This record gives sequence, C-alpha cells and structure tokens, in this order.
Amino acid sequence: MTNLVGRKVSVKVPATSANLGPGFDTLGMALSYYDELEVEAVAGSGAVVEVIGEGAGEVPTDENNLVVKSIAYVFEQVGVPLPGLKLKAHNIIPHGRGMGSSGAAVVSGIVAAKGLLEGVVDFTPERLLQLATDLEGHPDNVAPALFGGLTIAWEDAKGPHHKKLIVHRGVSPLELVPNFKMSTATARALQPESVPHEDAVFNVSRSALLVAALTQSPELLMAATEDRLHQDYRAEAMPEAGKVIELMRANNHAAVVSGAGPSVLVLASDPAERMEAAKLAAENFPQWRALVLAVDFKGATVISHQ
Ligand code: HSE
Repeated sequence: MTNLVGRKVSVKVPATSANLGPGFDTLGMALSYYDELEVEAVAGSGAVVEVIGEGAGEVPTDENNLVVKSIAYVFEQVGVPLPGLKLKAHNIIPHGRGMGSSGAAVVSGIVAAKGLLEGVVDFTPERLLQLATDLEGHPDNVAPALFGGLTIAWEDAKGPHHKKLIVHRGVSPLELVPNFKMSTATARALQPESVPHEDAVFNVSRSALLVAALTQSPELLMAATEDRLHQDYRAEAMPEAGKVIELMRANNHAAVVSGAGPSVLVLASDPAERMEAAKLAAENFPQWRALVLAVDFKGATVISHQ
C-alpha cells in the first residue's frame, strides 16, 4: 500500500445556487465565489482543522468537521486506511444562506481525497457525484460545485447523474445575501407531500423553458423563473426574501430564492440590467449584501498537489 503521509492537496470550490426557481432539486449553477481548502496527510490518526473566515469558531475542528467526514467517507468507500489529516479551510461562502456552503464543504473534501489518492484509486466524474450526493442528500448543489456551469441533475436506480450546460454569456447573476440564516431542513419541512397536478405541469413547463433561457434566450428569464413547487410553501420562514423577490420581479428582474434560502438570486439578462437590480436592492434593502458574480465554468479545481 502506497504511503500517503506527506501528500498535500489544495482545492478551490465554487458557491452554488440550487433550484433556480422552477428546477427544484434538479437545476443548479456554480458561481464565482470560492472556498479554498488545504489538506495534508500526516502520520498517526485523527484530524486537526483550522478554519479561517466563514464558520470559524462555529464548525467542529476535529473528526466531526464536515470536510473531514467527507474525506473519511471516500477513504472508507475505496477501502484505503485513512491517514492523519491536517486541514486549513479558507471560507468565504456564507453558511446557512442558500449558497451551497455545505455542498462546497462536501465537494472540497471529496476532491481533496481524490487528490490524496492519486495513483492509488481512480474516480470517474459520476463516482464523485455519487459520493457527494451520498453525503449531501440531493445532487442539485453538489453537481455544479463539482463540475461548474449550469447543471441538470437526476437520479435513477444506478444513482445520481448530471448534464453540464454552458450558460449564455449575457446571463448576469446577482446574489443578494441577508445577515440571517435559514436551515435547509427547516425549509424542506414546509414542503407538502403532494402538489396539485396543474402546479406540477406549471413547473415542468417553466423548468424546460429555463434551460432554454439560460443557454440561448436570456430575454425569457422572467417567465422561465416562475415556480409553484417550493418558494410559496417556504415563504413564511423567510418573509423578507419574499419582499426582495416581489420588488425585483415587479421591476422585471428575474429573482428567485437561492437554494433553500434565504438569499435571493437575480438572473439578469445583461450586466446593465444587473446593475439596475443591484441599485434597487441597495436603495430598498440596504442591510442585504449584493454580490456581483459570474457563472463559474470549471467547478472544483485542484490548485496545487504535492
Ligand atoms: N434543492 C434543495 C432545497 C437545495 O431547496 O431544499 C438546498 O440544499
């Protein structure tokens, strides 16, 4: 067995916005806002984690850390003994805001584990997605974090799959981030067991249209971002997000809840429209941060490997 001690990997993982309005648990987009992680395999066992930025003083810094758990899960699945681990996480993706921070933690651990195991175990992209989905629960955040761009994710008996699409260059994301959190579990608990057939049809039409709007026809983004499957049910848990979305949409800006919220993603059809949306947000919701972002096309990348 190859001795892994001394191997060092650094990875960079994008934030994501899942759902994108009608594409509940299916569509997601990678955004140019990144967490970075350095992992070193050291002698002995156990893990020591240093967290800089988001989550510092809040998230566990031992074996209970989500990144460490993700690395450990990969080693367990491939049957390789886990070495001791030294981690340094530089985090900027805010936690509990619907920007995929836990998906990014899972993906950073999986891609770092892949780097540590280079030459020992090979991983296909679908295996990486399977591992990440096992840990995250649903593939719509982890697929764009792994692969970048716009992703369509689905699952069948063989596991999760994805299709990556390149977003039209006009599409200009604006992420509006409040200073309060929302847990995905709380948001999911508000969803009904079943929905009216006509609402299901409504969302099928809008999500199909959204793929066209994001890849070919950004002028259709307003109609394409309508949703009846999750946002209204969850509105009571994030009333201010509802007000931001209402204001944006009343002014013809395609705004949706980002992931499980409470951030709001505006999908402007060009950079000038995006600046109008940012100005409107600053004037009416000055306590919300506005992040002017690009679509990330690469997904998780290994920055250095020793
Ligand atoms: N599709 C998920 C949800 C994304 O909205 O619950 C958050 O993990």
